[in-house]
Amino acid sequence: MNSPASQPAGLGLSEQHCTLGDWDSTACVRIDRRDYLLPAELEHELENRHWFVPAFMPYLAHPKIVQADRSMTLRLEANQLVYFLDYTTLLEHKIVNRAVETLIHNELGIPIPGHMKNAALQLYTDEGYHALFSNQVAEQVAQLYDIQNRSALPLRVTRLQGLIEKTPAEHQALTWFLVGFVSETVVAKELLGAARNTVVSTVFRMLKSHLEDEARHSRYFSDVFAYVWMQLEQEQRSRAARSLVAIIGIFFETDSQWLSESFGAVDLDETTIVGIVAALVHPDAHRKRVRRGASATLLAMSRGGFFDDDENLLLMREAGYIND
Ligand SMILES: [Fe+2]
Ligand SMILES: [Fe+2]
Repeated sequence: MNSPASQPAGLGLSEQHCTLGDWDSTACVRIDRRDYLLPAELEHELENRHWFVPAFMPYLAHPKIVQADRSMTLRLEANQLVYFLDYTTLLEHKIVNRAVETLIHNELGIPIPGHMKNAALQLYTDEGYHALFSNQVAEQVAQLYDIQNRSALPLRVTRLQGLIEKTPAEHQALTWFLVGFVSETVVAKELLGAARNTVVSTVFRMLKSHLEDEARHSRYFSDVFAYVWMQLEQEQRSRAARSLVAIIGIFFETDSQWLSESFGAVDLDETTIVGIVAALVHPDAHRKRVRRGASATLLAMSRGGFFDDDENLLLMREAGYIND
């Protein structure tokens, strides 16, 4: 490990970096006084609003779905929203906050300044509130549509937990940190696309609140990534680079099992389901999603010095995550 005393000046990271800014007057857990109950005029809103942004559900453009009654599209959107919110609730607790613990409790063996630790403690608190309001909205929508298949763990969560399990114990803390970094930079971008004023008003308010926090989290994790990366030894960096390829890939996989169940709930025929799922799991479609969705993550890695090593550049090119 390089000397911690050498890094803040070398990184150009001042106290303004690696914080969540004026958390007391901006974080939604500190300032939010509204409830997240579905609107009384829900039926009216659903005449022209969505449960979830259709841009995130390209399969809605399938002719079988376009030609069907609008109720099929609305139900698929509701399924997708509940899945996204249940996933968010789990992710915040079991993935993001586990990753943040590595900073707070010095599991990386890299001393961090007090303001960085304080921001990690604030971020941990934010995620608990995000899980609370995500679950509140998920419960209401699930009840409305009698959505049953909510107990299975989303693919992303099981894949990330599986990755940690097969990582040797002495490298697990750093892998958790990298999972947190990728998650927090990917999630902010996802929410930026999802928080549109064309969705049901309560869902929009909630996603917008979440996005405002996550924009700060993304900046924080990008700064901390640079701070941590600077202090890793070459061997740790090589291992971390391979882990990053795997982690980024996981964030853009398709949960075929859940998606098939969602289509099953609207009685879509088996041939259509198999066709849609096959197109989504195709490696080219996956790479396309990575390139589009991981841009903030890759930019933060670039700023942190990740691509200064040609080996790392090659690794990301081979994975198809960046252009040649
Ligand atoms: Fe969050
Ligand atoms: Fe976050």
